Formats: sequence, structure tokens, C-alpha cells
Amino acid sequence: MKRNRFISAGGMRKCYAAEIFGFPEEFLNRASDEWVLKDYLENVNGDRYDLCRKDVQTQAVAQTLGEIFSKKVKGIEGFGAFPRILPSFLVQQVGPPNYFTIEPKIDSSSYVKHINNDGLPEPPSLRSQLGQKCLAFSHWSLKFTGGRFLVCDVQGSEDALTDIQIASVDKERELFGAGNLGEGGFTQFKRSHECNPYCTLLGLERFKIASKQGSGDEYGKCGRFRKKEKLA
Ligand SMILES: Nc1ncnc2c1ncn2[C@@H]1O[C@H](COP(=O)(O)OP(=O)(O)O)[C@@H](O)[C@H]1O
Ligand SMILES: [Mg+2]
Ligand SMILES: [Zn+2]
Repeated sequence: MKRNRFISAGGMRKCYAAEIFGFPEEFLNRASDEWVLKDYLENVNGDRYDLCRKDVQTQAVAQTLGEIFSKKVKGIEGFGAFPRILPSFLVQQVGPPNYFTIEPKIDSSSYVKHINNDGLPEPPSLRSQLGQKCLAFSHWSLKFTGGRFLVCDVQGSEDALTDIQIASVDKERELFGAGNLGEGGFTQFKRSHECNPYCTLLGLERFKIASKQGSGDEYGKCGRFRKKEKLA
């Protein structure tokens, strides 16, 4: 594997163009003809192996959820295509031990983040078709997993999404990446999410919010929004 030019950095990792060698041609052709390498920034705490392993686990679960979602939306008239979710592979450096992840390279000029790991959307994505589809995917993920996982930090291009985080109810089991904010992610998503036309096509319902005053269920922002609520 060879690390080439620096592409860009996020809050946790630096991303480089990369070449990989020693894999069968057919594998490379099928997976991708261009690759990136992701290396954690020096100021990120934690064991590199653990960080990378969790990223790979998270992308694998997100990929499967993405496949189920894509299959579902294929049958819904008017939804259109949904991007694939990229796989991520763990790589151990030969020599002084260090760990990285590699994944297929996508067009970085059209790279956009739609939703953050704290559950809040990026405002331009509330208006774009792709952004709305990604937010509907997040909403669907919560419903599909019975309220246990929220797919968030969704970003990438029109064709492929990457760097997903999954907020999980049992954050303490550390199934997912360093960006798993657990309950924090759920709460902010439920509080801020306004269902869009893609949520409607999927038959998703606005979130119910348990009232602090005990006056029964009220509804989140998708419907009437009341202040001083406590999320269910
Ligand atoms: N697969 C990719 N192909 C091309 N560019 C990428 C890819 N993944 C990330 N990037 C670029 O690198 C930046 C940092 O990568 P990212 O995975 O978002 O790091 P972080 O985990 O810190 O958020 C992104 O904002 C994007 O510009
Ligand atoms: Mg990112
Ligand atoms: Zn919704």
C-alpha cells in the first residue's frame, strides 16, 4: 500500500489518496480502482487498532442497513435511487505497528455532509433531494431497529456514502465508532427532525414526545412542537 497526496481532514481523521498492491486484479476491479487511506489525527485519544476496528464494524452494519433500505425504496414509486454505503477495511502497517483504514475513493469535489453524529442535520441538506433521502434513511434506521440504532453522520457523494456513525442505545457496549453519542444523538435527532416527502413515501411517522407535565403524548417537530418536552 502506498500513501499518496493528502485529500482532506475531518474532525478525527486525515484522508489520503492511496494505492494498494498484492490483491487479485478481479478483487480490485470489483471493489474500486481508486482508494483512500484514513489515518487518525494525533489529538484523537484511543488505541489505533480499536478505533479502526470499530470504524470497520460501523461501516459494515451501515452497509447492511443501506442495502435493506435500498431494496425497500426500489419498490416505492417516486423515491428514486439511494447511494451505496462504502466498505471500510483495516490495514496494519508493516514495520513500526500502526493501523489505518482504506476504502474506495469517491469524487471529493461533490462531498457533502447531510447529518452530524449529534443527530442534527446540515441546513442545506434539508432542501436537497439527496439530503432529504439521507435524513429519511436516518429516521427509517431508528424505526427499523426498534429504536436501538440511529444511522447518523451521513456524508459522501451522489453515488456513495461514507464515514457513517451509528448512535446506539447501549453505547457502553462500544459496538460502534468513537462518534457514537448514544442517547445524545437520539434525543437531538428526535427533537430536530422534521419529516420530509421521502419520510412520507416510507410511511414514517413523526416522533412522539412524552410530556413533562404528564398531559399525555405530544408530537415532535414533524407536527406541533411544544417546548419543555422530555423525549421518550
Ligand atoms: N472515500 C472518500 N473518497 C474521497 N474523499 C474522501 C473519502 N472519505 C472522506 N473523504 C474526504 O476526507 C475528509 C475527511 O474524511 P472523513 O472520513 O470525513 O474523516 P472524519 O472521520 O474525521 O470525519 C472528508 O470530509 C472528505 O472531504
Ligand atoms: Mg467526516
Ligand atoms: Zn422523518
